[in-house]
Amino acid sequence: MTILNILHFPDERLRTKAKPVAKVTDKHRILIKNMLETMYDAPGIGLAATQINVHERILVIDISEEKNQPIVLINPEILEKEGDQEFDEGCLSVPGIYETLHRAEKVRVKALDKEGESFEMNAEGLLAVCIQHEMDHLEGTLFVDYLSQLKKQRIRKKLEKQQRSAM
Ligand code: NI
Repeated sequence: MTILNILHFPDERLRTKAKPVAKVTDKHRILIKNMLETMYDAPGIGLAATQINVHERILVIDISEEKNQPIVLINPEILEKEGDQEFDEGCLSVPGIYETLHRAEKVRVKALDKEGESFEMNAEGLLAVCIQHEMDHLEGTLFVDYLSQLKKQRIRKKLEKQQRSAM
Protein backbone atom coordinates (compact mmCIF):
# COMPACT_ATOMS: atom_id res chain seq x y z
CA MET A 1 0.00 0.00 0.00
CA THR A 2 1.30 3.43 -0.92
CA ILE A 3 0.17 6.45 1.08
CA LEU A 4 1.05 9.70 -0.62
CA ASN A 5 1.70 12.94 1.23
CA ILE A 6 -1.29 15.32 1.07
CA LEU A 7 -0.49 19.03 0.83
CA HIS A 8 -2.22 21.27 3.36
CA PHE A 9 -3.56 24.82 3.00
CA PRO A 10 -1.93 27.38 2.77
CA ASP A 11 0.74 25.47 0.78
CA GLU A 12 1.24 27.42 -2.44
CA ARG A 13 1.60 24.23 -4.51
CA LEU A 14 -2.17 23.75 -4.05
CA ARG A 15 -2.54 26.83 -6.26
CA THR A 16 -1.00 25.17 -9.33
CA LYS A 17 -3.31 24.78 -12.32
CA ALA A 18 -3.21 21.14 -13.46
CA LYS A 19 -2.44 20.17 -17.07
CA PRO A 20 -4.61 17.83 -19.15
CA VAL A 21 -3.44 14.22 -19.45
CA ALA A 22 -2.41 13.76 -23.10
CA LYS A 23 -2.42 9.97 -23.00
CA VAL A 24 -3.45 7.71 -20.12
CA THR A 25 -0.57 5.32 -19.42
CA ASP A 26 0.45 2.71 -16.84
CA LYS A 27 2.19 5.49 -14.95
CA HIS A 28 -1.23 7.16 -14.50
CA ARG A 29 -2.87 3.87 -13.52
CA ILE A 30 -0.28 3.37 -10.75
CA LEU A 31 -0.81 6.96 -9.64
CA ILE A 32 -4.60 6.41 -9.55
CA LYS A 33 -4.19 3.24 -7.47
CA ASN A 34 -1.98 5.14 -5.02
CA MET A 35 -4.41 8.09 -4.93
CA LEU A 36 -7.29 5.72 -4.08
CA GLU A 37 -5.26 4.06 -1.31
CA THR A 38 -4.31 7.48 0.05
CA MET A 39 -7.94 8.68 -0.05
CA TYR A 40 -9.30 5.57 1.68
CA ASP A 41 -6.56 5.71 4.30
CA ALA A 42 -7.12 9.41 5.12
CA PRO A 43 -10.14 8.71 5.14
CA GLY A 44 -11.79 10.89 2.54
CA ILE A 45 -14.37 10.72 -0.26
CA GLY A 46 -12.39 12.55 -2.93
CA LEU A 47 -8.83 13.41 -3.89
CA ALA A 48 -7.41 15.49 -6.73
CA ALA A 49 -3.87 14.88 -8.06
CA THR A 50 -3.08 18.52 -7.17
CA GLN A 51 -3.39 17.60 -3.49
CA ILE A 52 -0.54 15.10 -3.75
CA ASN A 53 1.56 17.58 -5.75
CA VAL A 54 0.97 16.00 -9.16
CA HIS A 55 -0.32 18.67 -11.50
CA GLU A 56 -2.30 16.59 -13.98
CA ARG A 57 -6.09 16.60 -14.36
CA ILE A 58 -6.95 13.43 -12.41
CA LEU A 59 -9.54 12.91 -9.65
CA VAL A 60 -10.62 9.94 -7.57
CA ILE A 61 -13.92 9.82 -5.69
CA ASP A 62 -15.79 7.22 -3.66
CA ILE A 63 -18.88 8.25 -1.72
CA SER A 64 -20.08 4.67 -1.04
CA GLU A 65 -20.45 3.43 2.55
CA GLU A 66 -18.44 0.28 1.80
CA LYS A 67 -15.68 2.18 -0.01
CA ASN A 68 -15.92 -0.16 -2.97
CA GLN A 69 -17.25 2.12 -5.72
CA PRO A 70 -14.29 4.19 -6.87
CA ILE A 71 -14.87 6.76 -9.60
CA VAL A 72 -11.88 7.93 -11.64
CA LEU A 73 -12.19 11.11 -13.69
CA ILE A 74 -9.36 12.13 -16.01
CA ASN A 75 -9.58 15.50 -17.81
CA PRO A 76 -13.09 16.07 -16.37
CA GLU A 77 -15.34 18.72 -17.91
CA ILE A 78 -18.71 19.88 -16.64
CA LEU A 79 -21.16 19.86 -19.55
CA GLU A 80 -24.25 21.02 -17.67
CA LYS A 81 -25.09 22.36 -14.24
CA GLU A 82 -28.50 22.66 -12.68
CA GLY A 83 -30.04 23.85 -9.43
CA ASP A 84 -28.47 24.85 -6.15
CA GLN A 85 -27.71 23.02 -2.91
CA GLU A 86 -26.08 23.78 0.40
CA PHE A 87 -23.57 21.35 1.81
CA ASP A 88 -21.10 21.20 4.71
CA GLU A 89 -17.80 20.69 2.95
CA GLY A 90 -14.47 19.58 4.24
CA CYS A 91 -11.18 18.85 2.47
CA LEU A 92 -8.20 16.59 3.15
CA SER A 93 -6.01 19.64 2.44
CA VAL A 94 -7.84 21.71 5.06
CA PRO A 95 -8.05 19.17 7.91
CA GLY A 96 -10.65 19.62 10.63
CA ILE A 97 -12.46 22.51 8.93
CA TYR A 98 -16.07 22.22 7.72
CA GLU A 99 -18.04 25.07 6.18
CA THR A 100 -21.37 25.36 4.39
CA LEU A 101 -21.10 26.17 0.68
CA HIS A 102 -23.47 26.45 -2.25
CA ARG A 103 -22.90 24.26 -5.29
CA ALA A 104 -24.96 23.14 -8.27
CA GLU A 105 -27.44 20.38 -7.33
CA LYS A 106 -26.85 18.35 -10.49
CA VAL A 107 -23.98 18.14 -12.95
CA ARG A 108 -23.32 16.28 -16.16
CA VAL A 109 -19.64 15.43 -16.55
CA LYS A 110 -17.49 14.19 -19.38
CA ALA A 111 -14.14 12.53 -18.62
CA LEU A 112 -11.73 9.75 -19.51
CA ASP A 113 -11.62 6.58 -17.42
CA LYS A 114 -8.37 4.87 -16.39
CA GLU A 115 -8.22 3.03 -19.69
CA GLY A 116 -8.38 6.36 -21.51
CA GLU A 117 -11.96 5.79 -22.73
CA SER A 118 -14.27 8.78 -22.86
CA PHE A 119 -17.53 8.60 -20.86
CA GLU A 120 -20.26 10.87 -19.53
CA MET A 121 -22.08 10.68 -16.21
CA ASN A 122 -24.80 12.47 -14.30
CA ALA A 123 -24.32 13.26 -10.63
CA GLU A 124 -26.48 14.88 -7.97
CA GLY A 125 -26.38 15.57 -4.26
CA LEU A 126 -23.15 14.64 -2.47
CA LEU A 127 -21.54 13.19 -5.60
CA ALA A 128 -22.20 16.42 -7.52
CA VAL A 129 -20.69 18.44 -4.66
CA CYS A 130 -17.67 16.17 -4.56
CA ILE A 131 -17.04 16.43 -8.32
CA GLN A 132 -17.28 20.23 -8.22
CA HIS A 133 -15.00 20.42 -5.16
CA GLU A 134 -12.34 18.14 -6.68
CA MET A 135 -12.47 19.90 -10.06
CA ASP A 136 -11.78 23.17 -8.24
CA HIS A 137 -8.52 21.65 -6.95
CA LEU A 138 -7.35 21.19 -10.55
CA GLU A 139 -7.76 24.96 -11.02
CA GLY A 140 -5.85 25.71 -7.83
CA THR A 141 -9.03 26.65 -5.98
CA LEU A 142 -9.86 25.52 -2.43
CA PHE A 143 -13.27 25.57 -0.74
CA VAL A 144 -11.98 28.15 1.75
CA ASP A 145 -11.63 30.58 -1.18
CA TYR A 146 -15.44 30.89 -1.18
CA LEU A 147 -15.50 32.07 2.45
CA SER A 148 -15.05 35.63 3.72
CA GLN A 149 -11.47 36.92 3.97
CA LEU A 150 -11.82 37.03 7.74
CA LYS A 151 -12.91 33.43 8.00
CA LYS A 152 -10.23 32.29 5.57
CA GLN A 153 -7.57 34.16 7.55
CA ARG A 154 -8.71 32.48 10.77
CA ILE A 155 -8.51 29.05 9.14
CA ARG A 156 -5.05 29.82 7.76
CA LYS A 157 -3.76 30.82 11.23
CA LYS A 158 -5.27 27.73 12.82
CA LEU A 159 -3.70 25.38 10.28
CA GLU A 160 -0.31 27.12 10.38
CA LYS A 161 -0.32 26.70 14.15
CA GLN A 162 -1.21 23.00 13.83
CA GLN A 163 1.56 22.48 11.27
CA ARG A 164 4.15 24.13 13.51
CA SER A 165 3.18 22.02 16.51
CA ALA A 166 3.28 18.87 14.37
CA MET A 167 6.96 19.39 13.42
NI1 NI B 1 -10.48 19.07 -1.21
